[in-house]
Amino acid sequence: MSLSPEFQQRIHNLYQKFIKYDATQLDRLNRYRNIEPESAQFLAMLIRIQQSKRILEIGTSTGYSTLWLADAAQVTQARVTTIEIDAERTRQAQGYAKELELDHVIDFKVLDAQIFLNESTEQYDFILLDAERDAYLSYWNILRNMINHSGAVLIVDNVISHAAEVKSFICEVKKDSRFMTTTLALGAGLFMVSFKD
Ligand SMILES: C[S@@+](CC[C@H](N)C(=O)[O-])C[C@H]1O[C@@H](n2cnc3c(N)ncnc32)[C@H](O)[C@@H]1O
Repeated sequence: MSLSPEFQQRIHNLYQKFIKYDATQLDRLNRYRNIEPESAQFLAMLIRIQQSKRILEIGTSTGYSTLWLADAAQVTQARVTTIEIDAERTRQAQGYAKELELDHVIDFKVLDAQIFLNESTEQYDFILLDAERDAYLSYWNILRNMINHSGAVLIVDNVISHAAEVKSFICEVKKDSRFMTTTLALGAGLFMVSFKD
């Protein structure tokens, strides 16, 4: 069952645990930096609305967002591919996914997102981009081909909290007339890009 009481309790507890951990880390890169719960819930709704089948996440971290995506993916019979450069974070995420019996819908990949994107020829219905912002511009050249079909959507987190860091990326996306864009003031700010048809 999706959004079971057990899932909701465990995901809430995990979020609290990750927030506490992040508060102990001075270096930003050592923090898990999981997405805000209201954003995660919105993504889970969007998967149900879109009836997504092929889901890609760039930036697994400890799997908070991945678990939300996977719980929704069960409903739409989708698969989630999630990319993370840090093997230890992926190991943690895999453990939580197994515990919540969501591991069968997730393909965990430990590698640099740029390498994954360079080598992938897949199309995705739904992409969550939540990694290091200075790489987004370079990712966009590949991501735009992955969502170049009807109903596909790319969502980028932190576009309000770190607006200056994503400015050139957003500017470049807006130049491509094949896509519609909007920014939602949810959590740290979600930038949505969808194919126009
Ligand atoms: C903001 S966190 C992701 C949070 C996660 N989406 C969540 O909400 O639970 C960003 C993650 O991207 C990973 N990352 C950074 N650069 C990467 C790269 N080049 N390739 C793959 N993962 C990368 C980091 O190790 C970090 O765990």
